Amino acid sequence: MIGRGDKEAADQAAVDAMRHVLDSVSFDGVVVIGEGEKDEAPMLYNGEHIGDGSLPQVDIAVDPLEGTRLCALGMPNAITVIALAERGAMFDPGPCVYMEKLAGGPEIADLLDLERPLPQTLNLIAQRKGVDIRDVVVTMLDRPRHHEQMAAVREAGARVRLIIDGDVSASLLAVSDNSPVDVLWGIGGTPEGVISASAIKCLGGQLLGRLWPRDEQERELAQAAGYEIGRVLTVDDLVKGEHVFFAATGVTDGDVLQGVRYPGGGKASTESLVMRTRSGTVRRIHARHDRAKLRALNAARFDI
Ligand code: FBP
Repeated sequence: MIGRGDKEAADQAAVDAMRHVLDSVSFDGVVVIGEGEKDEAPMLYNGEHIGDGSLPQVDIAVDPLEGTRLCALGMPNAITVIALAERGAMFDPGPCVYMEKLAGGPEIADLLDLERPLPQTLNLIAQRKGVDIRDVVVTMLDRPRHHEQMAAVREAGARVRLIIDGDVSASLLAVSDNSPVDVLWGIGGTPEGVISASAIKCLGGQLLGRLWPRDEQERELAQAAGYEIGRVLTVDDLVKGEHVFFAATGVTDGDVLQGVRYPGGGKASTESLVMRTRSGTVRRIHARHDRAKLRALNAARFDI
């Protein structure tokens, strides 16, 4: 589906594949972050139980295709991603679609603050890193709602690196070693915030989030459901505990992961990042797949 221009079909293919595989896993999983409410998502909807029902009981966050448009347009940084944590550990965003996010690596984690104007924080980051403010890079989604902050960052002397989609991948980049960007800032999906927090709990660093209702109605709905709108959430609020697992595989080539490649001969290759909080182990897995064998195996396993 990469580069075929059909983002719905690309997303559907990713959801189908992920759902089939999850069915074969031994656990009692509840989708906390999924494809949306049951009425609009037939599979991997929020609240759906997956796995064979045996222990352990886990919360699951999925984004089978993070960056549907990126995939459809053959652009960089589309990934497929899943995170698992103990039951009850993940923040349920409820009606809150967007969240303001600020993320950065371990070296500057303590400097991040959503209450302080961003340019001031960028100056502190420059001092901490021993660089000029002109060499501090903020990555953010290219959205009109970010224009004012974009201007403020540039006014302060720092640089902006825009992305058209995919703030999970951008969060991963922001907290990575030797990253070309120092921080991610911006208003993006709340589900993506929880998924990014799961990764950051494994990699180190911080992501601060603050719910960002789109209108008065959403604000009232969230407040009625008990959400505290102005509260700043840390990675530990977004995903509690130390039993957090995270895996992402590149779909299109990107900053953090290489995408799926088709070298010929019926083969495909993928690159994945697999990690967990408790051990702190971060694995990069390069896999070569035999497409005919996989197809036959899956047909037998899933009766397709
Ligand atoms: P999709 O997985 O739906 O393609 O989302 C991509 C994305 O860019 C996220 O990374 C980001 O958090 C969100 O959409 C931003 O939402 P919007 O496009 O409405 O500004």
